[in-house]
Amino acid sequence: MIANRLIAHRGCAHLAPENTLGAMRLTQQLGIDWVEIDANLVGDGTLVVFHDDELSRLSNGQGQLKSLRYADIADLDVGSHFSAEYSAERIPTLDEMLAFLAAQQFGLNLEIKRYEHFSAEQIVEPTLASLARNWQAFDRLIISSFDTEILRLIRQHQPEWQLGQLWEALPDNWQSVAESLQAVSIHLDHSQLTAEQAKAVKQAGYDLYVYTVNHPATAQRLFDMGVDGIFTDNPTLFG
Ligand code: G3P
Ligand code: MG
Repeated sequence: MIANRLIAHRGCAHLAPENTLGAMRLTQQLGIDWVEIDANLVGDGTLVVFHDDELSRLSNGQGQLKSLRYADIADLDVGSHFSAEYSAERIPTLDEMLAFLAAQQFGLNLEIKRYEHFSAEQIVEPTLASLARNWQAFDRLIISSFDTEILRLIRQHQPEWQLGQLWEALPDNWQSVAESLQAVSIHLDHSQLTAEQAKAVKQAGYDLYVYTVNHPATAQRLFDMGVDGIFTDNPTLFG
Protein backbone atom coordinates (compact mmCIF):
# COMPACT_ATOMS: atom_id res chain seq x y z
CA MET A 1 0.00 0.00 0.00
CA ILE A 2 1.44 3.35 -0.97
CA ALA A 3 1.36 6.17 1.54
CA ASN A 4 0.77 9.49 -0.16
CA ARG A 5 -1.51 8.31 -2.97
CA LEU A 6 0.60 9.69 -5.84
CA ILE A 7 2.65 7.37 -8.04
CA ALA A 8 4.93 9.06 -10.60
CA HIS A 9 3.88 7.48 -13.90
CA ARG A 10 6.95 6.38 -15.86
CA GLY A 11 8.70 8.81 -13.46
CA CYS A 12 6.77 12.05 -14.07
CA ALA A 13 6.42 11.62 -17.84
CA HIS A 14 5.21 15.21 -18.38
CA LEU A 15 8.21 16.69 -16.58
CA ALA A 16 11.12 14.55 -17.79
CA PRO A 17 11.70 11.87 -20.44
CA GLU A 18 9.71 8.84 -19.37
CA ASN A 19 11.32 5.79 -17.78
CA THR A 20 14.79 7.39 -17.55
CA LEU A 21 17.11 7.78 -14.59
CA GLY A 22 16.79 11.55 -15.04
CA ALA A 23 13.05 11.27 -14.56
CA MET A 24 13.61 9.31 -11.36
CA ARG A 25 16.00 11.98 -10.04
CA LEU A 26 13.40 14.64 -10.70
CA THR A 27 10.72 12.52 -9.03
CA GLN A 28 12.93 12.29 -5.97
CA GLN A 29 13.51 16.07 -5.94
CA LEU A 30 9.74 16.56 -6.00
CA GLY A 31 9.42 14.45 -2.88
CA ILE A 32 7.43 11.67 -4.53
CA ASP A 33 8.48 8.31 -3.17
CA TRP A 34 6.61 5.86 -5.42
CA VAL A 35 7.22 5.40 -9.14
CA GLU A 36 5.76 3.25 -11.87
CA ILE A 37 8.08 2.00 -14.61
CA ASP A 38 7.66 -0.32 -17.60
CA ALA A 39 9.94 -3.34 -18.00
CA ASN A 40 10.36 -4.61 -21.53
CA LEU A 41 12.46 -7.30 -23.15
CA VAL A 42 15.05 -6.82 -25.90
CA GLY A 43 15.69 -9.57 -28.48
CA ASP A 44 18.85 -10.80 -26.75
CA GLY A 45 17.02 -11.34 -23.45
CA THR A 46 18.06 -8.12 -21.73
CA LEU A 47 15.37 -6.40 -19.71
CA VAL A 48 15.19 -2.65 -20.17
CA VAL A 49 12.97 0.11 -18.85
CA PHE A 50 11.07 1.31 -21.89
CA HIS A 51 7.38 1.56 -22.63
CA ASP A 52 7.07 0.80 -26.33
CA ASP A 53 7.96 -2.27 -28.39
CA GLU A 54 9.62 -0.09 -31.00
CA LEU A 55 12.08 2.76 -30.75
CA SER A 56 10.89 5.68 -32.85
CA ARG A 57 8.56 7.54 -30.47
CA LEU A 58 11.06 7.81 -27.64
CA SER A 59 14.54 7.66 -29.13
CA ASN A 60 16.71 8.66 -32.06
CA GLY A 61 16.69 5.04 -33.23
CA GLN A 62 14.30 2.87 -35.15
CA GLY A 63 13.28 -0.75 -35.09
CA GLN A 64 11.58 -3.20 -32.82
CA LEU A 65 13.09 -4.24 -29.49
CA LYS A 66 12.46 -7.90 -30.30
CA SER A 67 14.80 -7.69 -33.31
CA LEU A 68 17.66 -5.93 -31.53
CA ARG A 69 20.35 -6.65 -28.98
CA TYR A 70 20.91 -4.41 -25.99
CA ALA A 71 24.25 -3.39 -27.54
CA ASP A 72 22.30 -2.02 -30.52
CA ILE A 73 20.24 0.34 -28.38
CA ALA A 74 22.55 1.16 -25.48
CA ASP A 75 23.82 4.41 -27.00
CA LEU A 76 20.50 5.75 -28.27
CA ASP A 77 19.42 9.16 -27.02
CA VAL A 78 16.09 8.92 -25.19
CA GLY A 79 16.17 12.42 -23.72
CA SER A 80 16.40 14.89 -26.61
CA HIS A 81 12.88 14.16 -27.80
CA PHE A 82 11.82 15.70 -24.48
CA SER A 83 14.39 18.50 -24.17
CA ALA A 84 18.08 19.18 -24.84
CA GLU A 85 18.68 19.22 -21.08
CA TYR A 86 18.13 15.46 -21.07
CA SER A 87 20.23 14.56 -24.12
CA ALA A 88 22.51 12.31 -22.04
CA GLU A 89 19.67 9.96 -21.10
CA ARG A 90 20.00 6.38 -22.32
CA ILE A 91 17.63 3.42 -22.09
CA PRO A 92 18.24 2.00 -18.60
CA THR A 93 18.57 -1.72 -18.11
CA LEU A 94 16.20 -3.03 -15.49
CA ASP A 95 19.26 -3.83 -13.36
CA GLU A 96 20.44 -0.20 -13.50
CA MET A 97 17.03 1.18 -12.73
CA LEU A 98 16.31 -1.19 -9.83
CA ALA A 99 19.73 -0.48 -8.31
CA PHE A 100 19.09 3.27 -8.50
CA LEU A 101 15.56 3.09 -7.10
CA ALA A 102 16.59 0.71 -4.31
CA ALA A 103 19.49 2.96 -3.29
CA GLN A 104 17.11 5.94 -3.11
CA GLN A 105 14.57 3.88 -1.15
CA PHE A 106 11.78 4.39 -3.63
CA GLY A 107 8.57 2.41 -3.59
CA LEU A 108 8.17 0.75 -6.95
CA ASN A 109 5.31 -0.40 -9.11
CA LEU A 110 7.10 -2.52 -11.68
CA GLU A 111 4.81 -2.96 -14.66
CA ILE A 112 5.87 -5.85 -16.86
CA LYS A 113 5.05 -5.48 -20.53
CA ARG A 114 4.61 -8.43 -22.84
CA TYR A 115 4.31 -7.65 -26.47
CA GLU A 116 3.14 -10.73 -28.34
CA HIS A 117 6.47 -12.09 -29.55
CA PHE A 118 7.83 -13.27 -26.19
CA SER A 119 6.58 -16.01 -23.90
CA ALA A 120 5.74 -15.28 -20.29
CA GLU A 121 8.62 -17.54 -19.24
CA GLN A 122 11.10 -15.57 -21.33
CA ILE A 123 10.15 -12.42 -19.44
CA VAL A 124 9.55 -13.72 -15.93
CA GLU A 125 12.83 -15.57 -15.52
CA PRO A 126 15.10 -12.52 -16.08
CA THR A 127 12.72 -10.31 -14.12
CA LEU A 128 13.01 -12.54 -11.07
CA ALA A 129 16.78 -12.67 -11.49
CA SER A 130 17.06 -8.89 -11.74
CA LEU A 131 14.92 -8.38 -8.65
CA ALA A 132 16.99 -10.96 -6.75
CA ARG A 133 20.15 -9.01 -7.64
CA ASN A 134 18.85 -5.55 -6.93
CA TRP A 135 15.83 -5.38 -4.63
CA GLN A 136 15.32 -6.23 -0.99
CA ALA A 137 12.40 -4.11 0.24
CA PHE A 138 9.52 -6.24 -0.92
CA ASP A 139 7.04 -4.23 1.15
CA ARG A 140 7.91 -1.39 -1.25
CA LEU A 141 7.36 -3.36 -4.44
CA ILE A 142 4.15 -4.04 -6.36
CA ILE A 143 4.48 -5.98 -9.59
CA SER A 144 1.72 -5.43 -12.12
CA SER A 145 0.92 -6.48 -15.65
CA PHE A 146 -1.93 -6.52 -18.10
CA ASP A 147 -0.77 -10.09 -18.68
CA THR A 148 -2.29 -12.48 -16.16
CA GLU A 149 -0.02 -15.31 -17.28
CA ILE A 150 3.03 -13.32 -16.26
CA LEU A 151 1.56 -12.62 -12.85
CA ARG A 152 0.58 -16.26 -12.44
CA LEU A 153 4.13 -17.40 -13.12
CA ILE A 154 5.56 -14.91 -10.65
CA ARG A 155 3.08 -16.05 -8.03
CA GLN A 156 4.23 -19.66 -8.52
CA HIS A 157 7.79 -18.59 -7.72
CA GLN A 158 7.03 -15.98 -5.09
CA PRO A 159 4.07 -16.71 -2.77
CA GLU A 160 4.58 -13.54 -0.72
CA TRP A 161 5.16 -10.80 -3.26
CA GLN A 162 2.59 -8.06 -3.84
CA LEU A 163 0.96 -8.47 -7.24
CA GLY A 164 -1.48 -6.13 -8.97
CA GLN A 165 -3.64 -7.05 -11.95
CA LEU A 166 -3.86 -4.33 -14.59
CA TRP A 167 -6.88 -3.91 -16.82
CA GLU A 168 -8.12 -1.05 -18.94
CA ALA A 169 -11.70 -1.71 -17.84
CA LEU A 170 -12.71 -4.04 -15.01
CA PRO A 171 -13.88 -7.33 -16.56
CA ASP A 172 -16.80 -9.35 -15.24
CA ASN A 173 -14.50 -12.08 -13.91
CA TRP A 174 -12.15 -9.66 -12.15
CA GLN A 175 -12.63 -11.12 -8.70
CA SER A 176 -11.88 -14.72 -9.64
CA VAL A 177 -8.72 -13.60 -11.48
CA ALA A 178 -7.59 -11.49 -8.53
CA GLU A 179 -8.30 -14.30 -6.06
CA SER A 180 -6.46 -16.88 -8.15
CA LEU A 181 -3.40 -14.60 -8.23
CA GLN A 182 -3.72 -13.66 -4.57
CA ALA A 183 -3.38 -10.10 -5.84
CA VAL A 184 -3.20 -7.20 -3.44
CA SER A 185 -4.33 -4.56 -5.88
CA ILE A 186 -6.34 -3.80 -9.00
CA HIS A 187 -4.99 -1.22 -11.47
CA LEU A 188 -7.40 0.34 -13.97
CA ASP A 189 -7.84 3.09 -16.54
CA HIS A 190 -9.58 5.79 -14.49
CA SER A 191 -11.71 6.91 -17.42
CA GLN A 192 -13.47 3.54 -17.53
CA LEU A 193 -14.02 3.13 -13.80
CA THR A 194 -17.52 3.48 -12.37
CA ALA A 195 -18.37 4.30 -8.76
CA GLU A 196 -20.03 0.88 -8.42
CA GLN A 197 -16.90 -0.89 -9.60
CA ALA A 198 -14.69 1.09 -7.24
CA LYS A 199 -16.98 0.20 -4.37
CA ALA A 200 -16.95 -3.49 -5.28
CA VAL A 201 -13.14 -3.61 -5.53
CA LYS A 202 -12.72 -1.90 -2.18
CA GLN A 203 -15.39 -4.03 -0.48
CA ALA A 204 -13.55 -7.13 -1.68
CA GLY A 205 -10.45 -5.88 0.13
CA TYR A 206 -8.18 -4.85 -2.74
CA ASP A 207 -6.15 -1.69 -3.10
CA LEU A 208 -7.28 0.27 -6.15
CA TYR A 209 -4.89 2.29 -8.33
CA VAL A 210 -5.84 4.12 -11.50
CA TYR A 211 -3.95 5.54 -14.47
CA THR A 212 -3.27 8.15 -15.76
CA VAL A 213 -4.64 11.12 -13.82
CA ASN A 214 -3.39 14.61 -14.62
CA HIS A 215 -6.20 16.82 -13.31
CA PRO A 216 -6.76 17.65 -9.62
CA ALA A 217 -10.56 17.62 -9.89
CA THR A 218 -10.48 14.18 -11.47
CA ALA A 219 -8.15 12.95 -8.75
CA GLN A 220 -10.46 14.24 -6.04
CA ARG A 221 -13.47 12.54 -7.62
CA LEU A 222 -11.53 9.26 -7.78
CA PHE A 223 -10.32 9.51 -4.19
CA ASP A 224 -13.92 10.21 -3.15
CA MET A 225 -14.88 6.97 -4.92
CA GLY A 226 -12.39 5.07 -2.77
CA VAL A 227 -9.38 4.93 -5.09
CA ASP A 228 -6.20 4.43 -3.06
CA GLY A 229 -3.67 5.95 -5.43
CA ILE A 230 -3.29 7.54 -8.84
CA PHE A 231 -0.60 7.24 -11.46
CA THR A 232 0.20 10.75 -12.61
CA ASP A 233 2.60 12.23 -15.16
CA ASN A 234 2.84 15.43 -13.11
CA PRO A 235 2.69 15.20 -9.30
CA THR A 236 3.18 18.98 -8.96
CA LEU A 237 -0.46 19.44 -10.00
CA PHE A 238 -1.64 18.01 -6.72
CA GLY A 239 0.02 20.43 -4.30
O1 G3P B 1 0.68 0.84 -14.82
C1 G3P B 1 -0.25 1.80 -15.18
C2 G3P B 1 -0.07 2.29 -16.59
O2 G3P B 1 1.27 2.60 -16.79
C3 G3P B 1 -0.51 1.29 -17.62
O3 G3P B 1 -0.47 1.78 -18.93
O4 G3P B 1 0.51 2.12 -21.16
O5 G3P B 1 1.00 3.74 -19.35
O6 G3P B 1 2.00 1.47 -19.31
P1 G3P B 1 0.83 2.30 -19.72
MG1 MG C 1 3.03 1.51 -17.40
